[in-house]
Amino acid sequence: MGRVIVIGSINQDITVTVDRLPEPGETLLGTSLTYRLGGKGANQSAAAAHAGAPSLFIGRVGADQAGMVLVDELSSHGVDVSHLLVDEDATTGIALITVSASGENTIILDAGANGRVTAEQAREAVEPSREDVIVLQGEIGAEVNEQVIRWAHRTGARTVFNIAPAYEVAPEVLALVDCVVVNETEAGIVLGRPAPQDADSALDAAAAVVDLGPRLALVTLGGHGAAWSDGDRSEHVPALRLGPVVDTTGAGDAAVGALAAALAMDWDFPEAVRAGVRAGSTAVLAEGAAASYAGIEPLQAP
Ligand code: ADP
Ligand code: NA
Repeated sequence: MGRVIVIGSINQDITVTVDRLPEPGETLLGTSLTYRLGGKGANQSAAAAHAGAPSLFIGRVGADQAGMVLVDELSSHGVDVSHLLVDEDATTGIALITVSASGENTIILDAGANGRVTAEQAREAVEPSREDVIVLQGEIGAEVNEQVIRWAHRTGARTVFNIAPAYEVAPEVLALVDCVVVNETEAGIVLGRPAPQDADSALDAAAAVVDLGPRLALVTLGGHGAAWSDGDRSEHVPALRLGPVVDTTGAGDAAVGALAAALAMDWDFPEAVRAGVRAGSTAVLAEGAAASYAGIEPLQAP
């Protein structure tokens, strides 16, 4: 079985709930406060571990208390954190989140140590094999992602690139990627056109992403599931209704992590997408991101 090697972000998500969002200059009383593990990279590595693949996280935290707590927490999900660097000159990435009673939110992100992740750090940490799957997102430097993609391609490892937050990636870089994963909004940004609004336009969008260069593309559609394309074939995979939807935070990361785990176990792409969709639909059943991944079923190597 291959490994899932995630190079990416790790944050402390500090969430305060309020009756309504404050106006500029206003002070409000919060109604609850949580500190949680976050960052797309960390979440995806946790999901891959719950899905049963050996999962390695390469990233950076600061030499502060938040960093220590996050490293322990990620490790408790079964992720190998031995290549997670503690950077003496940086603070841990933080997301300051406000959620109102009506469900509106504001988010302020301070990248901190995430902005200091380097491709060299990844190259020094691991030697990928052809069985391994390297997973990237949009929360570390674009040039770092590009260098990692070129390196992964030379080693023969497959890459899953979750372009989130989305940005325009050069076609010569995308041509080296196995699978691009984006949600509807991100698909619109990557393609430079209006975001797909339904399953049919998502199928078109997935095919259009493949035209940009990657071998495969997956467009996730929240409660509507996901659409994938390999340029010839495409398919809409509906979401599963496994129970009441409690919190959709981290659903996309659950899908990416489980998809990567299935690919590391050498599942066919259509089946790996199903595993990803199922993991996403499982993550919405409980509060939080990684905190909601305990229900993800371990996959079996075929
Ligand atoms: P992101 O968080 O990146 O925007 P999505 O919201 O598209 O990602 O969700 C990713 C996956 O999680 C979907 O493909 C689907 O399988 C699952 N999912 C998301 N929202 C729901 C929901 N309300 N009900 C069931 N499954 C969901
Ligand atoms: Na959740």
